[in-house]
Amino acid sequence: MPDDYVTLRTCPDVHTANVMRSVLAGSGIDALIPHETFASTFPHLLAGSGGVRILVRVVDLERAGELLQQAERASVLETERLSLRQLTEDDAPFILHLLNEPSFIEFIGDRGVRTLDDARRYLQAGPLASYEQYGFGLYLVQLRERGIPIGICGLLKRDQLEHADIGFSLLPEFWSEGYALEAAAAVVDYARVTLGLGRLVAITSPHNERSARLLGKLGFAFERNIRMTPEGEELKLFGAG
Ligand SMILES: CC(C)(COP(=O)(O)OP(=O)(O)OC[C@H]1O[C@@H](n2cnc3c(N)ncnc32)[C@H](O)[C@@H]1OP(=O)(O)O)[C@@H](O)C(=O)NCCC(=O)NCCS
Repeated sequence: MPDDYVTLRTCPDVHTANVMRSVLAGSGIDALIPHETFASTFPHLLAGSGGVRILVRVVDLERAGELLQQAERASVLETERLSLRQLTEDDAPFILHLLNEPSFIEFIGDRGVRTLDDARRYLQAGPLASYEQYGFGLYLVQLRERGIPIGICGLLKRDQLEHADIGFSLLPEFWSEGYALEAAAAVVDYARVTLGLGRLVAITSPHNERSARLLGKLGFAFERNIRMTPEGEELKLFGAG
């Protein structure tokens, strides 16, 4: 073990240590998990060592601690395969990609986000403003194991609707794996238990069958057609609770 490395945290399991390592790697900080953790006798070592240590260079210690604290604050939900966290302006490249997917434009709409600056503005005026104003918003959905962003899912509060509505959109290469259901079920639970929201709604375009199927699995029922603006498309309103 290089001797200028010190223990940053002791994690309960390898998964948690790996998540921390990937958070730090995103900011250019090299973190190590000692080799003994991966030995074939891992469970015994783990039991004996009281956890999985994650190490960083002495010079990075303070900054690494701050980064992990930020990540812990912003991480909203964890499911079996996914983690959901608050979006930040640094997610602009992913948002630019997602919002220009043909499926996003067809089923949600063209938000006119064509550059990274547009994406930053969208993030500021949308999800970030919502966290500030309501304490909830759309979150980034990532694969837990590798920290890969696959979509967004969360809650919105629109002036036209009395109750918060649930929103979700994944990159098409991650459809048909049950990820949207897993993320949305966690958001519904979070809305009920943590935020205390009794009723939730959802709006979809009339031909969005995948969304309607997903909402059915979440316990939402079709209630009526609705227009968000007098000249807007007629949408379907679903409700639960
Ligand atoms: C709406 C959207 C998020 C739904 O994604 P999805 O992957 O179809 O939804 P689910 O997570 O419920 O996955 C369902 C599928 O995964 C399959 N599946 C595989 N593994 C599964 C698992 N472990 N658990 C549950 N389902 C699983 C199901 O059998 C189902 O298969 P099917 O596609 O053949 O019917 C996605 O189509 C999307 O991003 N669309 C564009 C944006 C959009 O329309 N957003 C909604 C606006 S209102």
